[in-house]
Amino acid sequence: MSRIAYVNGRYRPHRDAVIPVEDRGYQFADGVYEVCEVREARLVDERRHMARLVRSLGEVRIRLPMPLSALSVVLHETVRRNRVRNGIVYLQITRGVARRDFAFPAPAPAPSIVVTARSHDHVKAEKMATEGIAVITVADGRWARPDIKSVSLLPNVLAKQVAREAGAREAWLIDAEGFVTEGASSNAWIITTDGEVVTRPADNSILSGISRAVVLDAMAARGLSFTERPFTVAEAQAAREAFITAASQIVQPVTSIDGKPVGDGRPGPIALGLRREFHRHAEFT
Ligand code: PDD
Repeated sequence: MSRIAYVNGRYRPHRDAVIPVEDRGYQFADGVYEVCEVREARLVDERRHMARLVRSLGEVRIRLPMPLSALSVVLHETVRRNRVRNGIVYLQITRGVARRDFAFPAPAPAPSIVVTARSHDHVKAEKMATEGIAVITVADGRWARPDIKSVSLLPNVLAKQVAREAGAREAWLIDAEGFVTEGASSNAWIITTDGEVVTRPADNSILSGISRAVVLDAMAARGLSFTERPFTVAEAQAAREAFITAASQIVQPVTSIDGKPVGDGRPGPIALGLRREFHRHAEFT
């Protein structure tokens, strides 16, 4: 079955789903995106993902090209046409097509919008969670606004490649003071030997993850205490547990950081428990 993408008002097979060469997303990474989990053919936390999309668009002054109600129809229709039961739906909005010039084109072109969806291997994802993943650390070389979900992801791409070449699944990005900001495509968490769950505050230095918000709700429901503060690599390596969160992998236990085992080197019970409970705290549409 050929995959179908929504591109500026049309559903097309991927091979015909194209964007003009002067799209500002292509020329300048002048656009933003969202990734929503799809579970049992429904979207997970669409409302919060769309709220973050609206915020990202506002921060870069791109207008929402269609009402959220219409966008919701497109997201669901793209999932349906690709027969995705479990996977992700991807949405990208750029400033549109215009002759290459750095400043915003005037008059503003229609923003370009692309939606794709794909299935993931549920069995493989569960296996990875029971095994845990290795993480390596890389200097955080991104711009000062990672809170905007911009398609400008070159530092994240390079960090992830360093991880891959080191046999790790994720790179944790380290700020100038030696604190972990977040993963190349996830938020970072530790549980200290005192049982304190720690994650960095969602200020401008990280993306305010939707899965992060769901996990905070799950912890509050469990009565687990947590602290939002920066933590160092040494603290993470000495932690009892570590994990990452992202829409594409929910809660994923981390079992080593820069080659040092975290705790006993196996996925921790709190991370696995939060993974099991995750969808009880998420919204389905
Ligand atoms: N990435 N931090 C970064 C840098 C991310 O790219 C992501 C998600 C997150 C987690 O956000 P959320 O819980 O809302 O997915 C944090 C997506 C999955 C991606 O780029 O594929």
